[in-house]
Amino acid sequence: MRFVGKKVIITGGSSGIGKSAAKIFAKEGADITIVARRENVLQEAVSEISSHLASKDQGIDYKSVDVSDWEKVSAFASEYASNRGAPDIIINSAGISHPGYFEEIPYEVFQRVMDIDFFGVVGMCKAFVPLMKERGGYIVNISSIAGFLGVFGYSAYCPAKFAVFGFSQVLRSELKKYNIHVSILCPPDTDTPQLEMENKIKPEETRAISGNAGVMSPDDVAKVMVNGMLRSKPVIVPGLNGKFVLYASRWIPSVVEWVMNREIKRFS
Ligand SMILES: NC(=O)c1ccc[n+]([C@@H]2O[C@H](COP(=O)([O-])OP(=O)(O)OC[C@H]3O[C@@H](n4cnc5c(N)ncnc54)[C@H](OP(=O)(O)O)[C@@H]3O)[C@@H](O)[C@H]2O)c1
Repeated sequence: MRFVGKKVIITGGSSGIGKSAAKIFAKEGADITIVARRENVLQEAVSEISSHLASKDQGIDYKSVDVSDWEKVSAFASEYASNRGAPDIIINSAGISHPGYFEEIPYEVFQRVMDIDFFGVVGMCKAFVPLMKERGGYIVNISSIAGFLGVFGYSAYCPAKFAVFGFSQVLRSELKKYNIHVSILCPPDTDTPQLEMENKIKPEETRAISGNAGVMSPDDVAKVMVNGMLRSKPVIVPGLNGKFVLYASRWIPSVVEWVMNREIKRFS
């Protein structure tokens, strides 16, 4: 019970990795607020997460906010502050993906992905860090393996996740003085509604490349994330394959490129 009484906000907490994380924090005795856009999905998630609460004294609620809308995020932070003060933990899991061939992805999609996946994270940090710096806390920003490796088909998604990676490294360094820890979570393909949607539209080349890395469950990814938080790991990469890709992309990038090109060539 390492998170008893901690106040946790999880964007994207109504689904996938965010919802799995919320269930872990519920079992650990935390007070949880999940954030997403669709109210009905949030309500269903709250009742699912409630069944994992360790005690009746814990709180679980939701807030419908589009994280790409800075004014709404800022208003949410003010409301949260006046009702509860500062959160202890923020998990920025809200995100979307839109795989496809660069030439076929509309310009607006590049902007939308960046608005949610990157500026959504910046907005949450900008709104809540001023509250958190009094007492310290923890922020986890969810990037991806596509946040350190450019992968065929992810010309809209990779840049947003690379941006989350760089932003979080800076934040980790700048917020240390306030005792606010920052970690970057880089999951591999994870069995969630996002992956299900991606699988309907991703190019064959992308499917072949990511097929090499396997798929994890959101519960396992969330478990690795929480264990990583307990050790304040700067970069948390769930799964052996993901870790291998991280080290290979840093130390033997030409081999990684060769492996990816070999898959891509099969379709030309
Ligand atoms: N699944 C994977 O294979 C995988 C791999 C690597 C990284 N990731 C990253 O992990 C994170 C979680 O992904 P997931 O697979 O768990 O996705 P998911 O199951 O599709 O859940 C996404 C969550 O984000 C919320 N969301 C989306 N846009 C939002 C917005 N503008 N404002 C507020 N909430 C928003 C969704 O709810 P609403 O739609 O109701 O807003 C939902 O709760 C994402 O950042 C994703 O990019 C996923």
